[in-house]
Amino acid sequence: MSEESRSSIHGQWSNRMVFILAATGSAVGLGNIWKFPYITGENGGGAFVLVYLVCIAAIGVPIMMAEVMLGRRGRQSPINSMRILAAEEGRPASWSWLGWLGVIAGFLILSYYSVIAGWALSYVFRTASGVFEGATADGVSSIFTGFVSSPESLLAWHTIFMVITMIVVSRGVKHGIERAVSYLMPSLFVLLIILLFYAMSTGYFMQGLEFMFTPDFSKLTAQSVLVAMGHAFFTLSLGMGAIMVYGSYLPKETSIAKATMMIAVADTTVALVAGMVIFPIVFANELLPGEGPGLIFQTLPIAFGQMEAGVLIGTLFFILLGFAALSSSISLIEPAVAWLVENRGMSRVDASVWCGLATWLVGVGSVLSFNLWASKTWSLSLFGETLFENKTFFDTLDGLTANIMLPLGGLFIAIFAGWMMRPESSKSELNTVEKGYTLWINLVRVIAPFAVMVVFLNVIGVIDFN
Ligand code: PHE
Repeated sequence: MSEESRSSIHGQWSNRMVFILAATGSAVGLGNIWKFPYITGENGGGAFVLVYLVCIAAIGVPIMMAEVMLGRRGRQSPINSMRILAAEEGRPASWSWLGWLGVIAGFLILSYYSVIAGWALSYVFRTASGVFEGATADGVSSIFTGFVSSPESLLAWHTIFMVITMIVVSRGVKHGIERAVSYLMPSLFVLLIILLFYAMSTGYFMQGLEFMFTPDFSKLTAQSVLVAMGHAFFTLSLGMGAIMVYGSYLPKETSIAKATMMIAVADTTVALVAGMVIFPIVFANELLPGEGPGLIFQTLPIAFGQMEAGVLIGTLFFILLGFAALSSSISLIEPAVAWLVENRGMSRVDASVWCGLATWLVGVGSVLSFNLWASKTWSLSLFGETLFENKTFFDTLDGLTANIMLPLGGLFIAIFAGWMMRPESSKSELNTVEKGYTLWINLVRVIAPFAVMVVFLNVIGVIDFN
């Protein structure tokens, strides 16, 4: 089939704006509001944030353009798009394993993502009940600890979130999600801005800013550089085909470069604002920035308990966070569902149910990581260097996917787009100004792969900056 006549059997976005909304919906999620603040706290603040920002600009943006481009040119699930494009460029069909790597990564990420999204859903009701009104930092903390120590509650909320995800995915991501994203995302942002004003009123705003934006490079380890880079992939939904599959539904005329920039800016802004809300609350209440995955659940409720109309604002906040998580989770499973529909002739409903069941099952491991399995830990070393040590099932999955699988997927996407594709192909698909193309091709050919390799080699101790 020629590249001109190819179209997606799953349909197309109705216009460019819908793609931008959907891709922003995929990018903005728990990664920005839940994960970014807690890993920034664990990794010492400023220097970590700086590395993360550099990774977004130098690695994330060019790779996102590459992914959208590959998706739009292939017009199928990432597995099939990679196979078609490889054939078209005279490369081995085995490039489709890159699609498989992504499907597996998406599946594993969703398994724990859903557990955390479940926390957000349960906090809708907890906040609405008014328990946080006037609560102290200790009170808020013990409510959180009590909640996560109950496997039954976590399992119930994980199940509810997975069911909602599967319902949306089975109806096709293009229906419903567009409208949801276009109202709900801006509303979430408005609430974050209201919270920002609260953070300013704590008297610890400057301390929060200082923590986030004054780099202290002595706090930067090879590990934290890896986490920062991994998070750049995670937060932009890169390296596993989510953005590629959304690109495959993109009409031909859209400028990929402009759309990508808008998505990256929106995503980064949300993360930075979330950090500027959380850290002043951390310092004002003498909490520790390195509190871990519970950080937002142990800080934001304090704000909701103190501010005017806190019950309402807090309840709305967790509802919107749930929606932000939903618009990300559907993109995590879409590559797998699209493939099952294309290659196994399954209906969308069946494909969604099977994927959902399998993901749910793996998620049980993450549910238990916070209670019954809390002391069951894993370590991984490579070439005699510890990659991670004493991590729970949840932390292991997160580290393996975000810090290893996504950057690895991204690395190969960059190599394919930069070196395996003929420049005529990428040029005609990107259809951007000459200067922009030159910058992009240099970034995907040299800078991005080089940076990812350096970070990997640094972690396994082959090269050492210190
Ligand atoms: N980008 C999403 C977030 O920040 C998570 C995600 C990762 C979604 C990878 C799709 C693919 O929450």
